[in-house]
Amino acid sequence: VRVAVLGAGYVGACTAAVLAEQGHRVVLADPDARRAGAVRRGEAPAYEPGLGDAIAAAVRRGALGATTDPVEAVRGAELSMLCVGTPPKRDGSQDLRFVKAASRQVGQALRGQRGWHCVVTKSTVLPGTTGGVVLPAVEKASGRRAGDGFGVAVNPEFLREGNALEDARAPDRVVVGALDEASAKAVWALYEGLACPKLTVSLGTAEMIKYASNAFLATKVGFANEVANLCRAIGLDAEEVMQGVGLDARIGPRFLRAGAGFGGSCFPKDVVALLRLGERERAPSRILKAVLGGNARQPLEVVRLARAALGSLEGKRVALLGLAFKPDTDDVRETRALPIYRALRAAGARVVCYDPHAGSGFRALAGSSVRLAASLGEALDGADCAVVQTEWAEFRALPPAEFVARMRRPLVVDGRRTFDPKAMRAAGVEYHAIGLGEPARSARARP
Ligand SMILES: NC(=O)c1ccc[n+]([C@@H]2O[C@H](COP(=O)([O-])OP(=O)(O)OC[C@H]3O[C@@H](n4cnc5c(N)ncnc54)[C@H](O)[C@@H]3O)[C@@H](O)[C@H]2O)c1
Repeated sequence: VRVAVLGAGYVGACTAAVLAEQGHRVVLADPDARRAGAVRRGEAPAYEPGLGDAIAAAVRRGALGATTDPVEAVRGAELSMLCVGTPPKRDGSQDLRFVKAASRQVGQALRGQRGWHCVVTKSTVLPGTTGGVVLPAVEKASGRRAGDGFGVAVNPEFLREGNALEDARAPDRVVVGALDEASAKAVWALYEGLACPKLTVSLGTAEMIKYASNAFLATKVGFANEVANLCRAIGLDAEEVMQGVGLDARIGPRFLRAGAGFGGSCFPKDVVALLRLGERERAPSRILKAVLGGNARQPLEVVRLARAALGSLEGKRVALLGLAFKPDTDDVRETRALPIYRALRAAGARVVCYDPHAGSGFRALAGSSVRLAASLGEALDGADCAVVQTEWAEFRALPPAEFVARMRRPLVVDGRRTFDPKAMRAAGVEYHAIGLGEPARSARARP
């Protein structure tokens, strides 16, 4: 299939690379010349493990091209995929600026063209957006009617950054929402080789499946964080508790790991957008409101642990380890590192930050006064405390003795349960972590 992918971000670039790998002919369009240029040179437009190699191979074979002009990309394509950003507005509702512009561009490309074309929304959009915003915009700009002139579909993306290529190659399931049979058929032609469960639904149902999935996962994490805070307070280890909970087949082990809260480009904005939709439609979600409130407080729990151990943070040198919202990505959108950084600074700490990939992105977010260390070792040298915000493999690989050797006080506050508490303590590290209570208390705990 000749496919135009609009948006060379995490989703668009991974989608394009995998479609090209699977034998389709793909043109990736992004007005951001830096991103389009990277793809043209056979490089990844954003950091994602394996993406550079996949793009290089596809470009070399001539299966993948890139342009800054979406209209040019769509001309000659049988199917276009909207993978543009859907950021939140100030009030949390969805900003559809990019979706509208991309839809218009698809329409412009279709004007005067021969041949049927299918427009597919892959961006995460609220129920009703593809039918109520994308479809009319394409109709208006193309002068054609949806149904006979072109097809419309929704194909929500469930990939996780850091594991995006594998997720795109072998998804758990594929959901297609379609205006009509021809649209559904056009999208399914892309996924013929996949053996996973496949679901065909309406446009709005497909859009809602994405939101309900993300809201559920965010709720699961939020719940795990609450249980973890309680476990710590009563002297239990939440990791052990959740191991037992996750063995229940009805619950499952994933997304039960407690931490400093969820961030990233999806959970926070998608949960808020769904919350706003519920308010508008007079079907408010109390659960999601509580999830967001808990998630705003959770990073401060890490700061509280650091303060409890240090007495006061005033003048203390704190190494903030991990700035990306999670490992294996350079994405800092809604990273919990930001509230942690600000709270540490507000309490008077001298913060030195380190991340293997997200340093410059974090500086752009948090301000030019951010002090970045060039290496993990440099961040730890002379520190009174290390706060772990992202569980990078590089941190896990550091022998516990290094903390003792480099830090002024070998105090580690682990916001992601990165380390083995026993190994850390055996090496002489003063180790505190989310959800890790002191067993001595639990032996005496009364109901
Ligand atoms: N990042 C994820 O893990 C993830 C996972 C699932 C779904 N999603 C959803 O997918 C969508 C894209 O997310 P992302 O993280 O890849 O976003 P991103 O911000 O990394 O990339 C979006 C890209 O779209 C480009 N763009 C804007 N207008 C355009 C236009 N008219 N034509 C072509 N390109 C245009 C931008 O320049 C940008 O490079 C969002 O709706 C997001 O919610 C993201």
